[in-house]
Amino acid sequence: MASRPYRLGGKLSNFFELPILAIETSCDETSAAVVVGTQVRSNIVASQIEMHRKWGGVVPEAAARAHVESILPVIEESLEYAKIALGEIRAVAVTNRPGLVGALSVGVSAAKALAFDLRVPLIGIHHLEGHLLSVLAVNPKLTFPHTCLIVSGGHTELVQVDGFGKYRIIGHTRDDAAGEAFDKGARLLGLAYPGGRAIQELAVDGDPTRYPLPKGLSGDTIDFSFSGLKTAMLRLVQSEGKNLSVSDAAASLQATIVGVLVERAIRACEQLGSETLTLVGGVAANIALRKRLLEACRQAGIQLIVPPTDMCTDNAAMIGLAASTRLARGEQDGYDLDCIASIDI
Ligand code: KG4
Ligand code: ZN
Repeated sequence: MASRPYRLGGKLSNFFELPILAIETSCDETSAAVVVGTQVRSNIVASQIEMHRKWGGVVPEAAARAHVESILPVIEESLEYAKIALGEIRAVAVTNRPGLVGALSVGVSAAKALAFDLRVPLIGIHHLEGHLLSVLAVNPKLTFPHTCLIVSGGHTELVQVDGFGKYRIIGHTRDDAAGEAFDKGARLLGLAYPGGRAIQELAVDGDPTRYPLPKGLSGDTIDFSFSGLKTAMLRLVQSEGKNLSVSDAAASLQATIVGVLVERAIRACEQLGSETLTLVGGVAANIALRKRLLEACRQAGIQLIVPPTDMCTDNAAMIGLAASTRLARGEQDGYDLDCIASIDI
């Protein structure tokens, strides 16, 4: 059943100031947030990482079951923290693509039930649009066009952002994502899942020049390839055996990934004449990447915008921010909103 568009009254621009309840369950974090325009009033995240750690990665069936258990308490906590009653919510937003279908369907079912009960608009959000607009929390007056580097566990993309809802993928990974490269490298070094944070911590005491690793594609491309890095790490671990310095290997891996990301992002800005770059997604929490990219942007005269680290990894506030922009344009979805695994829509 498709929903009727609800008439909220007031001018379109006022829609940007309405309280939105946002839900994110695309992978292994159950999250709910209350967002009013570009203000994040609450952002509650119940992480399943501890549970998945024993399997070395996310088990889809277990993720969906854990979302079922956490979703209602997380929503309640997000409303309590924001000091907003459920009856004051004027729209419900939810990640409906891409992601694990079983996991997505928990958030989407909850969002549909709430939107129906409250008689407010339901807004389905693409997870990557959420990451992309997470910078609204620190820069509400985001200008266009700008370039965005999305780096997460599942995605590594350079996107040209011509306006809200106007996105062009200009560069992408041809195999593994940057977060995957961190996670797979960490696993080879015997570190726990997810490995990005663990690599960052070990790299502090390591020599990043000790083990030269491949940068993937050569030439003036703005695409990425990280699968050769994983193979090189495997060979390094096998050839060094007990002599391997884990901290030097972690530092070398981090420096290689960061070097490639910085080089391609700056090149993309130069090729497109962008004066602003945004850095988003779980890997954007990496301190070395934030530092190196800031230095490179300063040298190139580019403004860098990065969300706070707790808004880099998956969270519902970014979904609410993206929904604010859609609500401001009068967009909403019907109750036939689907959960879609694939990125290509
Ligand atoms: O955006 P995200 O939470 O989930 C996806 O949409 O994929 O990103 C998770 C990824 C994982 O690969 C994790 O290892 C990586 O982000 N990550 C980091 C750091 N924190 C999380 N990678 C490097 N350094 C970090 N501090
Ligand atoms: Zn994500």
